[in-house]
Amino acid sequence: MADKTYENIKITREGGITFLSLNRPDKRNAMSPALHYDVEDALTWLARDAETKVLVLTGEGEAWCAGQDLKLYFRETANNPDERARSNTASHHWRWELLSRFPKPTIAMVNGYCFGGAFTQLHAVDFVITAEDAIYGLSEVNWGIIPGGIVSWNMVQMMLPRHALYYAATGEPFDGKRAVELGIANFAYPKEQLRAETVKMAQKLMNLNPNVLRFTKEAVRSVADMTAEQARDYLGAKQDSLARNDKEIADKRGMKQFLDEKSYRPGLGPYPR
Ligand code: ACO
Repeated sequence: MADKTYENIKITREGGITFLSLNRPDKRNAMSPALHYDVEDALTWLARDAETKVLVLTGEGEAWCAGQDLKLYFRETANNPDERARSNTASHHWRWELLSRFPKPTIAMVNGYCFGGAFTQLHAVDFVITAEDAIYGLSEVNWGIIPGGIVSWNMVQMMLPRHALYYAATGEPFDGKRAVELGIANFAYPKEQLRAETVKMAQKLMNLNPNVLRFTKEAVRSVADMTAEQARDYLGAKQDSLARNDKEIADKRGMKQFLDEKSYRPGLGPYPR
């Protein structure tokens, strides 16, 4: 199927990797209602798109995403409760519900500014690779609102509460290297290496069994709020379900290749598929 085109986002599919790029560079990729509707539609499509093995979320131009569009998302919907409600629902739907439960691995490739509401999609993805000089900030306090939607919750999930409160209360910007120290990004690279390193990570993920990856994502996210007893029960059932859903796992292919064929070492990398 040909790439779909949208007004506010750009989709490029290359060798299993789908780049979804917010495409309002003149407005630093601030999120307007129309952008929310575009991404909501695209993620619904890409979740089931066979050509998409790994999803990379990025931004055109200097910014990853400058948060909600103050003019189009806030000011222009202030007297239009229907549009406000519709865009608010779409915004939460894609940035949290669709993205955090996306059935394939997701990587944020943070090429530049990341502010305010953008922290929700930053938290929802599985991995974050950032430019060292990308600028992050919880800027809400600077113009007189609190980190709303679910941003305050995103922050305390991603970093120690003391750091979350510091950055929320001061609005102080920080860079990509600091984002790694705070635990909100996996790796920081000079900007010129960002794309190549992201592709490298995506290719590594594509060597793995996609069902095992999906079940692993779901398992790690779900156990966070469970007791040890609940986690043990749930993970046992989850592993049984994985074996029922995937023939390779039911056949114990990895175990056979290690124990019988002695063809690889699971401690050092995945079984050849
Ligand atoms: N909402 C609406 N418009 C925006 C936003 C935004 N969040 N961010 C940038 N823009 C627009 C600017 O208004 C400007 O538009 P114009 O050309 O029509 O005047 C254009 O994008 C470029 O912005 P500049 O400020 O000129 O660009 P610069 O590169 O100097 O600065 C920066 C970029 C730092 C991102 C700055 O634009 C900024 O501080 N933006 C606001 C970021 C923010 O606080 N986001 C959180 C919003 S709150 C929330 O998400 C809940």
